[in-house]
Formats: sequence, structure tokens, C-alpha cells
Amino acid sequence: MRSSSPFDSSSQKISRKRPLSERLSFHNTPQHLKRARTTTSTSSSTPATKHKKKHKYKSKEDRAPKNLTQLHFTLDSSVLRTCPLCDLTYTKGAPEDETLHSSHCARVQRGMQWRRDEERTAVEAQVCEVATGVKLKDGNSGRIISINADASGKIGSKLAALLQTISLHLSSPPLTRDVLRTSKVYLFLLPSKRSLSCETIAGCAIATHISTAMAVASPAEVQGHPTNTSSSVNPIPPPTARLVSVDPSSSLFCKPEPLSTPMGIPRLFVPSAYRRRDIALRLLDAAAATFVHACPLDPHRGEVAFTQPTASGKALMEKWGRGGARIYQE
Ligand SMILES: CC(C)(COP(=O)(O)OP(=O)(O)OC[C@H]1O[C@@H](n2cnc3c(N)ncnc32)[C@H](O)[C@@H]1OP(=O)(O)O)[C@@H](O)C(=O)NCCC(=O)NCCS
Repeated sequence: MRSSSPFDSSSQKISRKRPLSERLSFHNTPQHLKRARTTTSTSSSTPATKHKKKHKYKSKEDRAPKNLTQLHFTLDSSVLRTCPLCDLTYTKGAPEDETLHSSHCARVQRGMQWRRDEERTAVEAQVCEVATGVKLKDGNSGRIISINADASGKIGSKLAALLQTISLHLSSPPLTRDVLRTSKVYLFLLPSKRSLSCETIAGCAIATHISTAMAVASPAEVQGHPTNTSSSVNPIPPPTARLVSVDPSSSLFCKPEPLSTPMGIPRLFVPSAYRRRDIALRLLDAAAATFVHACPLDPHRGEVAFTQPTASGKALMEKWGRGGARIYQE
């Protein structure tokens, strides 16, 4: 789920490190100093000559400059700051960037708010309460709702802001309209301490219809058999040669054959304050149980796929799917 594609204009502004040449509207090329056209007067010059020469300088430009100073622009790379809490790189001191960063950072850490009354009025969004009293590891409990991902109105704006935060955090492109049309958003909502009518969005999973995905290769399939020693005469290609590399750094390889798979998870996000309490697991359970009407899906049997997972996403995928979850190309 990590890729580098364009975001909307506002987010792009702060997420991308722009090359310095692009960020500057000037070039730091030293200009040749304008020199006086005549030589400065010497002690041997007669007063008459001096007088004559004085009148040769007609404009300001032609006048011999006094005390010339060469100015240099120092390009300080420390104006770019990467926040250790939300990972966003932005321009320090630029008011617009600072504002965008502080709202993004708060959302990444503590999540956004959800107003209960809004979901009752938005009929077309088809807000559906999927599970209530969902217990978490820390003893708290919340509820899970699902919403059409292409909802409009107030709920649509809320979802758009949430999806933008997730995309920015994952450095992934926004989901296309076509994908949103066939997707559902699952939200984990925790009661807010501040108000009864408000809840905190403590997790979000997007589920979408897909057609095919690839099975993840087991560690044995990646490493191959010990008898497969290569010889210089007949070199045996490594086992990974016929596999698709999803993430070489984490040795995640897939088998290239496309297998029929009904559900994909293109985005999954839990704000940092709520992680490791099973929220992502509960969201995935809810999506697998309800995404296809009256047909619960089983991740262990390869019925659910993820897009290129992050390191934590891979760990979660392995725990939830127990080796059965697949990978698909977004
Ligand atoms: C990945 C993410 C969604 C997990 O959410 P979560 O609610 O913390 O996950 P859960 O609590 O349900 O984790 C269940 C299990 O997954 C595994 N897991 C989850 N996050 C892990 C991590 N960072 N490191 C190692 N294992 C992890 C563990 O086995 C965990 O069980 P445990 O806590 O008993 O050890 C969350 O860390 C996140 O939003 N990260 C940023 C966005 C991202 O990377 N999304 C995934 C895209 S594929």
C-alpha cells in the first residue's frame, strides 16, 4: 500500500520534498559587477581632465559603485522538517504547511471525530451498524459501522478527509472513483470522553471488489530446497526467479498465477494512540463477514487480498490470514 503517486494539491505541497531548484524562483548565479567605463582618476590627472571625466558619467548605472558587497543566498536545508510522530515532511515556518501538518499529525495520532446524528440523516451513504460492543484488548469496547465509500454530503466530506489522511500517511495515491464505487469503508468507533454525541474514529479499513490476486509464497518456497545447488555448467535459477517480488526487504514474494479472489483491502489504518489493541483485526473480521451479502469470506482460504503491505501491515496480514491472505495489484 505504499507507493508514490500524486495527491491533491494541498497535500502534495507538504509531503513531497521538492528539489531546491524547483522551490526557488531565482538562481544563485553571481552577477558580473558593472564596472565603471573609465579608469579612476590618478594623481597625475590635471583638474581640467578630472572635470571632463566627471561629466562622462551620465546615469546612475554608469557611476562607479562604492563599497561593493557580494551577497550570497544560503540555502538552509533545515527548513524541511520530518515530524517524528506522523512522518510528514513539510516546510518549517511556512504558515500553510505548519497548519496542514498540525491537523494531519493530530489525525494520525488521535484520529478524527464522528458525529452519531449525521449517520441517521445520510440515507444514500447506507450507514450500517455491523457490530456493537466489540471488546478490545485494553477492556474498552466500541462499535463498527460500514458506509458506501462513494457517499456524498457531510459524510462524504468526512470520508474524503479521512482517506486523504490515510493516503498521505501511507504515501499512496488516492483511491479512484471507480474503486470507491465498489468499496465499503469500515470504521471502528470508540465513545468519546468529551461528548455523548461524538465518537472517535479509532480505525478504518476499506474493502473493495476485486477479481484476482496472487498467493503469498511460503518461506520454504522462497528459500528453495537445499539440494538445489547451482553449478557453473547448469546454473539452477534461484527459487525467487519465478516468483513476484512484492517487498524484497521483507522477503515477501508471491506466486504469479492470478487466482479468483472476491475482496481486496486497499487501505487499512489505525491512529497511533489506538494501535496493538486488536482494532485492525476486528475491522478485518467485520469486513470479511459482511462485505459480500450473506456470504462470509474466509482469509485462510485465500478469499481476501491486500495491496502491497507495510511492515506492520504484513505482520497483521500474516496473523489474520495465517498464510492464506493474498496480494493484489491496486
Ligand atoms: C498496521 C495497522 C493497521 C495495525 O493496526 P492495529 O490495530 O495496531 O493492529 P492489531 O492490534 O489488530 O494487531 C494484530 C496483530 O497484528 C500484528 N501486528 C500489528 N501491528 C504490528 C507491528 N507494528 N509490528 C508487529 N506486529 C504487528 C501483531 O501480531 C498483532 O498482534 P499482537 O498485538 O497481539 O502482537 C496499524 O499499525 C497502522 O495503521 N499502521 C499505519 C498504516 C499501515 O501501515 N497500514 C497497513 C497497510 S497494509
